[in-house]
Amino acid sequence: MRTNTGQIIHLEDYRPTDFVLERVDLTFELDPKETKVEARLIFHRREGVDSAAPLVLDGDELTMTGLLLDQEELATTLYDVAEDTLTIRGLPETAPFEITITTLLSPETNTQLMGLYRTNGVYSTQCEAEGFRRITYFPDRPDVLAVYTVNIIADKASSPLLLSNGNYLGGADMGDGRHFAAWFDPHPKPSYLFALVAGDLGVVEDTFTTMSGRDVALKIYVEHGKEPRASYAMDALKRSMKWDEEAFGREYDLDIFMIVAVSDFNMGAMENKGLNIFNDKYVLADPETATDADYANIEAIIAHEYFHNWTGNRITCRDWFQLCLKEGLTVYRDHEFSADMRSRAVKRIAEVRHLKSEQFPEDAGPLAHPVRPTKYREINNFYTTTVYEKGSEVTRMIATILGRDLFKKGMDLYFDRHDGQAVTIEDFVACFEAASGRDLRQFALWYHQAGTPLVTASGAYDATKQTFTLSLEQTVPPTPGQSAKEAMHIPLKMGLLLEDGSEAALAAVSGADMTDDVLHLTERNQTVVFSGIPSRPVPSFNRSFSAPINLHIEQNADDLALIAHHESDLFARWQALNAIALGNLVEATANVRAGKPVTSDKALIDGLIRAAADNSLEPAFRSQALALPSESDIAREIGTNNDPDAIHAARQQILTAVAAAGRDTFLKLSDELVSSGGFSPDAASAGRRALRNSALTYLVQADEGPERAAKAFAAANNMTDLSHALALLAHRFPDSAEATDALATFRKRFADNALVIDKWFAVQATIPGAGTLDRIKALMNEPLFNGNNPNRVRSLVGTYAFANPTGFNRADGEGYRFLARQILDIDPRNPQLAARILTSMRSWRSLEDKRAGHARKALKEIAGASKLSADVGDIVERMLKA
Ligand code: PHE
Ligand code: ZN
Repeated sequence: MRTNTGQIIHLEDYRPTDFVLERVDLTFELDPKETKVEARLIFHRREGVDSAAPLVLDGDELTMTGLLLDQEELATTLYDVAEDTLTIRGLPETAPFEITITTLLSPETNTQLMGLYRTNGVYSTQCEAEGFRRITYFPDRPDVLAVYTVNIIADKASSPLLLSNGNYLGGADMGDGRHFAAWFDPHPKPSYLFALVAGDLGVVEDTFTTMSGRDVALKIYVEHGKEPRASYAMDALKRSMKWDEEAFGREYDLDIFMIVAVSDFNMGAMENKGLNIFNDKYVLADPETATDADYANIEAIIAHEYFHNWTGNRITCRDWFQLCLKEGLTVYRDHEFSADMRSRAVKRIAEVRHLKSEQFPEDAGPLAHPVRPTKYREINNFYTTTVYEKGSEVTRMIATILGRDLFKKGMDLYFDRHDGQAVTIEDFVACFEAASGRDLRQFALWYHQAGTPLVTASGAYDATKQTFTLSLEQTVPPTPGQSAKEAMHIPLKMGLLLEDGSEAALAAVSGADMTDDVLHLTERNQTVVFSGIPSRPVPSFNRSFSAPINLHIEQNADDLALIAHHESDLFARWQALNAIALGNLVEATANVRAGKPVTSDKALIDGLIRAAADNSLEPAFRSQALALPSESDIAREIGTNNDPDAIHAARQQILTAVAAAGRDTFLKLSDELVSSGGFSPDAASAGRRALRNSALTYLVQADEGPERAAKAFAAANNMTDLSHALALLAHRFPDSAEATDALATFRKRFADNALVIDKWFAVQATIPGAGTLDRIKALMNEPLFNGNNPNRVRSLVGTYAFANPTGFNRADGEGYRFLARQILDIDPRNPQLAARILTSMRSWRSLEDKRAGHARKALKEIAGASKLSADVGDIVERMLKA
């Protein structure tokens, strides 16, 4: 286990390395228990560096068996091996020199899944962020770029396939049952993009002809027998390659592009140069086993990793503080890709739902940090929704502020200017300043100030002057380490709707800059006057969610209903419906807690049913409109002193009211939308399934017994419908024989498909109510449970903690105590996984006192454990900090 006990790294301490790395030659002799790695590294001392300065290399859990300088053994007086470093002294003043390091590794016992590991008979690597130092001693930081040659030697029978980055050079039989292969990657890269895979896998092959006419071999490697399930991923890959040429002018740059699917992986996927490694969850799909959400995720993640080839690989990060340089930008790119492949408005709604449910709570709690942090203790803990999703929103805002053409000009300049370099956020922003001539200094605060800005707005209409005056105020809440904040540049897309649903022209504006429908807020307080407004308007703010902010405006349900029915921006329609729903749900929660009856808002019910029945709208949008804010959305809106049981009860009652009022509409939809003919995963077909399942959800909500849900389960002919019906049964009628039967049938049918069994665990982990904890404990003794597989642990323990508000936040605190024990159990074998799951408690301070007290105790139990990884230690410490 890593013994890094928590040194804090500061951005301001950045300085380049003393030695420049020119070339890397690696030879791997693979063996499950004792793999030998020989690294030949050619360095020279950087100009101006003191001739006595030693070379300091990073290492982690390495056994070194050899160390040569220019092929001569190094005297033991010239080097020191410490816990995480190798220091070499007495190196040439100017001449290049070669260091040869031999290390021994045990891939089989590497349960952290960082560095070189072997599971299910396959060797694979994970080097981002600091895994390469678990393979050999190395300057393991992203600003050290070098050209790599890799030789792999392995047993031919068990590892017929030997892969690494770049282009294949050749290979041969060694005559002793082993064989070797050599790979050369001509593009200088940082060590975190290194990859090696060896094993016995099946392959799906295709080719792509790039815009300049080069043929690229495409290969997706999966377990034997699973090849047919990789065809959607291959299709998504080809569409991604084409799209990046068309939308960003980016062409692929090697002769081969490979993807390997592995079943033990800490994250979603990894963009290693020319050899992406994926969690197989984001590669494998067929109608029988994958849901529409799975297909959409595969498309997005295949695209994301592919797009990293330019945003991340060709241009990389100077240091890990700049992580959003590659991640925020690449998420923005994959969002745009999905928007072009599917419905833009529906995609945006899904993105904003995700941003609000994951990033907003992070930004409002003890783990809040800027998109570009200035310090960290464990970099693994900064692969966050703030860096990824808020980072993407910040990129989107640059595009909104500059407009399409100038944004493109800025991106082109970025690719031109920085290709082959390791750069910073400042370098990135400077490209847009240069391309547009705009000063983006105030805008750049989005990278540096944590916390979700709050904009408060109020409007006044003057009928005689025909003016509409908006008073706007922005505040950014204090966050850990940042108590005072400056005013931000907030690009707020908006419109003024008139009574008849038409839109007022925003020609004459004073008090703020406006470009098209974007109002530029730049002051703490701003008064904006619109003239020539013929009647009292209803302002519609933050169209397409142009800025990731909270917005407070006194708007009654009628005004919101006007937006919900007439806005030209479909996203804004959904946003208005959502605002009506949220207002109603918050009020209902207060009523439940006060012991008063819950009433449902007529505007809400009318709005939902009207949207559901409106055939002129696409089904996917109607399905989104029908999905009420989640229990955690409601908790976030309430903000403090939360009682998850009251929220659940309130939401259930509103659901029941909608179900009763919309019964006819829902019946009609569930009949009309029955799929006929073969399955297609395309967005339109998925949208029809989604709408039908939304209708079914309401029908089942109003049902007294499980018959309808059981019938849906029996009739389902694809995984979207099947898993939806299973969830309806298990969540609405958990103790029924029908639910028990369906769970058993499902388990039996899919017992040998790990990805589907993950769904089976997740459905049970999300059954509402205090009783679920006992189920979870029982499920951990299931033969199918496997505490070493990250997907499996996430599907049961993670889903319970992240996505079951009433089950996890039991009033007696048992949920938190259970989680604490799980974290301490997982931590020694996989600290990254443990730390990630622990972040499910990030909003503990917004709970009512008793639950918060139990949560604090559980966190203290973790903090007090005798041996904690830096990963978990860092999270728990920040969560407990006052
Ligand atoms: N860089 C990967 C991505 O976002 C994520 C990742 C980080 C994977 C760290 C593994 C380890 O595409
Ligand atoms: Zn990424």
